[in-house]
Amino acid sequence: DTLDWDAEAAGKSGYEHYMLKEIHEQPRALRQAISGRINDLATSVDLEVDLPTEYLQSIEEIQIIACGTSYHAGLYAKELLETHAGVKVTVHIASEYEFNGDRDPWRTLVLAITQSGETADTLSALREATRAGARTLALTNTLGSTVTREADDTVFIRAGPEIGVAATKTFVSQVATTTLLTVHLGQVRGTLSSQATTEFLESLRDLPGAVQQVLDQAPALKRAAETYADSKAFFYIGRKAGYPVALESALKLKEISYDHAEGFAAGELKHGPLALVTPETPVIAILTNQAAAEKTVNNVKEVESRGAPVIGVASDSAVTSDIDTVFEIPACGPLEPVVANVVLQLFAYYVANEKGRPIDKPRNLAKSVTVE
Ligand code: G6P
Repeated sequence: DTLDWDAEAAGKSGYEHYMLKEIHEQPRALRQAISGRINDLATSVDLEVDLPTEYLQSIEEIQIIACGTSYHAGLYAKELLETHAGVKVTVHIASEYEFNGDRDPWRTLVLAITQSGETADTLSALREATRAGARTLALTNTLGSTVTREADDTVFIRAGPEIGVAATKTFVSQVATTTLLTVHLGQVRGTLSSQATTEFLESLRDLPGAVQQVLDQAPALKRAAETYADSKAFFYIGRKAGYPVALESALKLKEISYDHAEGFAAGELKHGPLALVTPETPVIAILTNQAAAEKTVNNVKEVESRGAPVIGVASDSAVTSDIDTVFEIPACGPLEPVVANVVLQLFAYYVANEKGRPIDKPRNLAKSVTVE
């Protein structure tokens, strides 16, 4: 007798697609991202990278360069770094980056975020920063990749190999790792209290469990996705760290389902996009941070009165009382938007699956883009 052996099916360990497998690997990826990097008392961070304290204290600006999903992780990192590490952050789509001569390269840290470490646009921006004399730091998933050889220093996100073209686990690992960077910088620069430090580090430790709770709700998400799969377009809205999550969630849906999807800062809806909202366009609202959520609820009302179905993602039922479809997520402090992102990865996956799309290899897209 012979045993049927299909290497690809084995690689997917029983999941129908790599993307679904990788979504389910996130609790582990997150544990790996923080493993050994937080001390037992949750009071300090060790990123195993040689960035001298005096240098970190002297930085005036961090310029983040990235593409695609990594760019969204950069926008999330900006939110964290500016609020908690007291440093100005600019986030650049790598293909648009130029080092502005007004800046002092000695006081500018250029952070290249790239899962593959091989994206041509990101490498080319990195080279421009190096030429200008800035110090460079790479955040990548890939040992031995080009970015690790070209940047001054590298921090690994340790997500493990990602095969699906649509990035999932590497996004959450990028956010977890930039959270560690934020805490380290906040401590060195004296902008993060010890109480806030512990709160951050504990929410990082709680994150894998919170993500697991979302994964356990996958069947309910599948049903909701099937209900909305035939919609004309999908809009995602959020504020603060919920905004990059809105952009990333819309990107996931468009990449794998081929449906029209857009993410907006919730407050911007009324400045244009609201004209597109009809009963055929579901609006997905990321209602994670309490203060921002209360404002976003007003935007939810604007779209409800135009007849759009609303899907809310929140941990606090006080903000979702008037919403048709609600996904409740566990409270997870400052990292709650990451948990919301996992909900919306699954939503995108199930919409695309309902349409029978080739989820792991969407048309026209590549996992790693090595041309400019
Ligand atoms: C491609 C992939 C995206 C990815 C982007 C940046 O477009 O399809 O999923 O986000 O490249 O890739 P990087 O490896 O630099 O993070």
